[in-house]
Amino acid sequence: MEIDRKTFLDSLGGPEAASRMDSEARADALESHMMAQLNRAKTGDPAWDQIKPEKYPTVAEVEAQIETRKYREGVGFMYVPRTGENVRRLPPMPANPTLFDFFKFRFMDTSNHVLQSANLAMKNGMKEEIILACLLHDVVQEIIRTDHGWWGAQLFEPYVPEKVSFAIRYHQALRYYPDPSVGYEYPDLYRQLFGADYVPPPYIEATYQMVRKHPWYMDARLVTVNDLYAFDPNAVVSIEPFIDIIGRHFKQPKEGLGNDGSPVAHMWRTIARPDQPL
Ligand SMILES: [Fe+2]
Ligand SMILES: [Fe+2]
Repeated sequence: MEIDRKTFLDSLGGPEAASRMDSEARADALESHMMAQLNRAKTGDPAWDQIKPEKYPTVAEVEAQIETRKYREGVGFMYVPRTGENVRRLPPMPANPTLFDFFKFRFMDTSNHVLQSANLAMKNGMKEEIILACLLHDVVQEIIRTDHGWWGAQLFEPYVPEKVSFAIRYHQALRYYPDPSVGYEYPDLYRQLFGADYVPPPYIEATYQMVRKHPWYMDARLVTVNDLYAFDPNAVVSIEPFIDIIGRHFKQPKEGLGNDGSPVAHMWRTIARPDQPL
């Protein structure tokens, strides 16, 4: 299926609104849009006329896009805005910042996506650890996107139950592998993003093989299930519904995130002070 770019962007509130979404949210939106098109097609709606045969890029074509950009795709959203605009001055952080402060003042480009994902997990009756993992699974993409599952797990490891960081770490690798038992299929979108002939690198394959045999496999898998369809362009989700879950499972350090001397405190400081040169 080839999508009509203008129709798609209009459905997100225009190109400007779309440009403010992180790429994963945009990816999920694209998928919802494509599903809507397919449903219309099934019911004989005239929108079917707009659907043309799909052509995904090849891996070589995706690689050729690298030199068309001013940035590398792995860099975090708060460090290099994809809008091409100048960065904005960020609000100051409180002296002892909490997870809520980071959601409020720093997770600008990722919070909508993760809140919607956690909301979906809650609606689907997931257990609290899964809901928390969904709420946290992509926020590290504010600073770095490459291997964001591993970076994200590391960021949260000292503060959450082990199963939560496990689920965050491995959702990244599992997204490439279908699991019909929970209705998870390889996203068409990945053919678009990585190329139709893309094969995940050996470490991703090896990680998948390890995780699928692990007793906690389903914890990571359920993040991918609630991740994929998380985007609804009209939904505005707040952090309010998750306050109790965070309170029960997130060990907020009293000195504040970044000030507690933990092995990952520097990562929180990097998010809190992105304009610090050294
Ligand atoms: Fe992710
Ligand atoms: Fe995600």
